Amino acid sequence: MTPSQSGPDQGVDSRALAAKILAAVLDDGQPLAEALATSATQTAAQKLTDRDRAFARAIVMTALRRYGQIETALAAVADIKRLRRKSAYARLLLINGAAELLFLKVSAHAVVDCANRLARKNRHAQHFRPLINAVLRRLAHDGLPEEAKNEEARLNAPDWLWKRWRNEFGDAVANEIAVAHLLEPPLDLTPKSPSPGLAEEIGGEQLPTGSIRLTASKQIEKIQGYDEGLWWVQDAAAALPAQLFGNVRDKTVIDLCAAPGGKTAQLAALGANVMSVDQSSTRLARLESNMRRLDLRVAAVVANIEEWRPEQPAPCVLLDAPCAATGTLRRHPDIGLLKGPKDIQSLAEVQARLLDAAAPMVAQAGVLIYCTCSLEPEEGREQIESFLARNAAFARQPIQSTEIADQVEFISPGGDLRTLPSHWRDLGGLDGFYAARLVHR
Ligand SMILES: C[S@@+](CC[C@H](N)C(=O)[O-])C[C@H]1O[C@@H](n2cnc3c(N)ncnc32)[C@H](O)[C@@H]1O
Repeated sequence: MTPSQSGPDQGVDSRALAAKILAAVLDDGQPLAEALATSATQTAAQKLTDRDRAFARAIVMTALRRYGQIETALAAVADIKRLRRKSAYARLLLINGAAELLFLKVSAHAVVDCANRLARKNRHAQHFRPLINAVLRRLAHDGLPEEAKNEEARLNAPDWLWKRWRNEFGDAVANEIAVAHLLEPPLDLTPKSPSPGLAEEIGGEQLPTGSIRLTASKQIEKIQGYDEGLWWVQDAAAALPAQLFGNVRDKTVIDLCAAPGGKTAQLAALGANVMSVDQSSTRLARLESNMRRLDLRVAAVVANIEEWRPEQPAPCVLLDAPCAATGTLRRHPDIGLLKGPKDIQSLAEVQARLLDAAAPMVAQAGVLIYCTCSLEPEEGREQIESFLARNAAFARQPIQSTEIADQVEFISPGGDLRTLPSHWRDLGGLDGFYAARLVHR
């Protein structure tokens, strides 16, 4: 991919945008998704084309996904830590430049020239132009050093997560997870109703569990069926927890932590009477707008579920709890750099409180499904074990592989759903999701 600009400033604006987004993430600790969304509104004013924005996104995605290798490559040719203290901007230009040269294979001339132009405009970076030139030229000439070439998966996996995954899944699986994180994930869609032929019509592939997978990147609004509301974007793994209720037609389902509504849409499309609860009014507004496009009717409630109570308990309750989202690193490579063990601990405390709040909402013989898009045991297996230890009224109902299109590898020894980014390697992977099904006895 290359930028669309022509003339003397070719590519400078998209690289300026890439540096801005990377600064928001690495220097200000802003989540990448937010930084991208903010930049999209700002850059519309600067009249960047979609292609230029896509190029900027590709640079930052690569820089974050390959951060470990890039740091190793830069450290081999410059005192990058000292540079960070003197000019954070010069360092960002080098990181993005390295991503372009080493992984996106952009021509050295364009990369060095644009980095120079951007450095010249920045008060703190302008003195470092000779260094920026020399480092980028050296990387272009030498390529990745041996130590950054070997063990790419290990180098790009944040240390704290690498240790946790080895503990939880063992060395081989930890490595497979880290390998999966290096790849650009496909785009998955959930069809509103099973429609044979839809996958082919929109140029996708039908996955065994019912999702449609697109590998060629496309603007979502331009994919066939968007305006008609025939599908919504949802990773194939995220589409599994709502399926674990079985037949929900005409049943009441309380969807807790519902926005932006992927699981609400699934349940409503299956004929359930869905009550979608979320504490964020902005996110719930998105859920409502999504339901309008899909022509699905649900009751949306803005509330903190620790305080809210339904009029009466429901036969089905889904709790898709906020989590560290370490199962989504393929799409959000910033997570491993911005979060740490303390986040897991504090989120696990929130999840325990939300589970306790959800329990009385489940009717006798009703089903509670708890899920998170995390790979961490504290947010999955261990969370459910401690919930069951303090709630004798609930029991785990093991998930059968026949319920999820015979995907035996998605089921943990304890009978929970446990997908990993390294599963479905030949199909392009899927997010790491955990789900447990509990019955109120
Ligand atoms: C993982 S997201 C939910 C994704 C959603 N279930 C879907 O499938 O599209 C978690 C949601 O939990 C909501 N949330 C977090 N704490 C909450 C609370 N105490 N009460 C209600 N909603 C909460 C957040 O606003 C966020 O929208």
